[in-house]
Amino acid sequence: MVHEVATIPGDGIGPEVIDAVQPVFDDVSERFEFDLELVRYDWGSERYLESGSMMPDGGLDELAGYDAIVLGAIGHPDVPDHVTLNNLLLPIRKGFDQAICKRPAILFDGVESPLEGYDGGDIDFVVYRENTEGEYADMGGQEHPGHGHEVAVQSAVFTRTGTERIVRAAFEAATEREGRVTSITKSNAQAHSMVFWDQIVEDVSAEYPDVTVERLLVDAASMDFIRRPEAFDVVVASNLFGDILTDIGAIITGSMGLAPSANINVSGEYPSMFEPVHGSAPDIVGDGVANPLATILSAAMLFDHLGETEAGDAVWSAVTDQLADSDAPRTPDLGGSATTAQVVADLRTRL
Ligand code: NAI
Ligand code: MG
Repeated sequence: MVHEVATIPGDGIGPEVIDAVQPVFDDVSERFEFDLELVRYDWGSERYLESGSMMPDGGLDELAGYDAIVLGAIGHPDVPDHVTLNNLLLPIRKGFDQAICKRPAILFDGVESPLEGYDGGDIDFVVYRENTEGEYADMGGQEHPGHGHEVAVQSAVFTRTGTERIVRAAFEAATEREGRVTSITKSNAQAHSMVFWDQIVEDVSAEYPDVTVERLLVDAASMDFIRRPEAFDVVVASNLFGDILTDIGAIITGSMGLAPSANINVSGEYPSMFEPVHGSAPDIVGDGVANPLATILSAAMLFDHLGETEAGDAVWSAVTDQLADSDAPRTPDLGGSATTAQVVADLRTRL
């Protein structure tokens, strides 16, 4: 079986973590006997600074033929974040209808949570983030620039199709897990979009009588992610709320450097994309200490998606095994002093 995968290392520590996982891809494809053809696209902010565009014209058409995409991170101190996001990352998520963003938050054995009293296994939930619309919709504008009455309008977009898709995916996931869905909104303040969301949760939940539903407002949810993270199983949220909550999910489970994600095109018509939750981390770029495990766990999710579940399981277990071993190398975000390369070298011995 041949899998053709495009890699977009991107900016900052993106290339560091993507380069680091390359040998893991080689080991796994050899051991589980499949061909992985990785084709690298050096798109991102350096390209933007040289040529004025993050990716070439027709970039999406080029990517469309791949079985999947692996992305490092996007974001550069010299390029405004809305430029980087809206000209590379979001066009891929939206253009390829990657409606479901799946982000597990697991406190692995051997990893210290900043929350007192939490040990490995105590936190294990997954956030289903709506990924193509909501507050990330590119609808709005600015008027009267430079005048006192200057104005900016930005609209959120919630379609029944998009909302139902993410809510249904969350309920489906719950049937395979502990049967609990928590829906996050702000229905008290956003009486149109979020009340619409609540109604769809109500409609879909009727089809899943064995799944219990909890509703939380996003401010309370932010508190409860810290106060009682053990209570969550499947969390479903809009694009923006899901984005914010998954940073909390990442840090309570040890580090931004451990949080993986999958952006899934449900129909299979377009490639899905796998990427760490973290950004380009300009504060540590070039130090060789970026934690590669978020990207490696994202690769495990990629293998599952490609149907190479044994490979996915092997990678996932190698990571859990390494984290549980107090003698194993760890990057500084996990309290160690190892480099990215040392973590990967050790991981390869566990595959
Ligand atoms: P960030 O995730 O890059 O960094 C936040 C903190 O976590 C920093 O202290 C960083 O050193 C640490 N961190 C992140 N990944 C790490 C890793 N693998 N190993 C060790 N420590 C790690 O978020 P920040 O600083 O808000 O954004 C930096 C840039 O990245 C911005 O330009 C932003 O727009 C962009 N960004 C891009 C994302 C993407 O490409 N998906 C997601 C989030 C931010
Ligand atoms: Mg984010």
